[in-house]
Amino acid sequence: MNIVVASRKEDASEYVASLLGPLFRSVEPIRLGLATGETMIPIYQALVRQLTEGHPLGGAVETFNLDEYWPINSDHPGSFEQFMHRHLLSHIGPWVGRSNFLQGACPDPDLECGRFQKLLNWRPLDIQLLGLGLNGHIGFNEPGTSFHSRTRKVALSPTTQARNARQFPGAMPDHAITMGIADIMAAKNIILVVFGLDKKDVLARALFGPVSEDCPASILQNHPQVTVVADEEAGSVLDQSLAGQKDRPISVTVL
Ligand code: F6R
Repeated sequence: MNIVVASRKEDASEYVASLLGPLFRSVEPIRLGLATGETMIPIYQALVRQLTEGHPLGGAVETFNLDEYWPINSDHPGSFEQFMHRHLLSHIGPWVGRSNFLQGACPDPDLECGRFQKLLNWRPLDIQLLGLGLNGHIGFNEPGTSFHSRTRKVALSPTTQARNARQFPGAMPDHAITMGIADIMAAKNIILVVFGLDKKDVLARALFGPVSEDCPASILQNHPQVTVVADEEAGSVLDQSLAGQKDRPISVTVL
């Protein structure tokens, strides 16, 4: 596991954008899993800036968004599909890659999840970008989710609803459709990004606590290629926790 800590989230975001930018310029097919949420906003801002300078985009990236509320129309301002257009896709000029979204307006979530699952199963994602929920969720896989879970409809926990209501115009759906933990773990590389003091404890639990379905993100300890990028606030407990991890291959970089 590589841990990268930057003093400011803006610097951490530039770093993450510099990992993602080359994928958008690739002319070889790339499959990239994307996330939404407040953490992603400065990352997509930095990515847009990096992508609108320099070489043209390669058009060979296919993106897959982790999750979507259910039920919700794709043109609803609170939908994750709109989030991606607002913060990334509409800014990167003639977008010639392909974006895949779970359809929150689908009448039959099982059918929709089956469609998306087939796309995912076709070939592993090259990189999956993740944020971390205050309760340890990744995607909308809330505590208690099986590590074997696949793409499916889920109920949102009260913590998640309360947190996301801040970003949501109007009444928030209490369900979502999400890639499962096993789908996330199938990605070849994972980048987990965590910002802010309120995430420091859950980050320490995820990285150094027991691997347990009580903290879904803890499964990332078993993934062979994880990069964790944190700002100083979220990373502030890591020094202390790292002291007890002498047997694990963890590299730490301070930007
Ligand atoms: C969003 C997603 C969620 C968020 C997480 C953190 O697509 O999958 O797991 O990454 O809830 O959200 P923020 O960044 O808003 O704290």
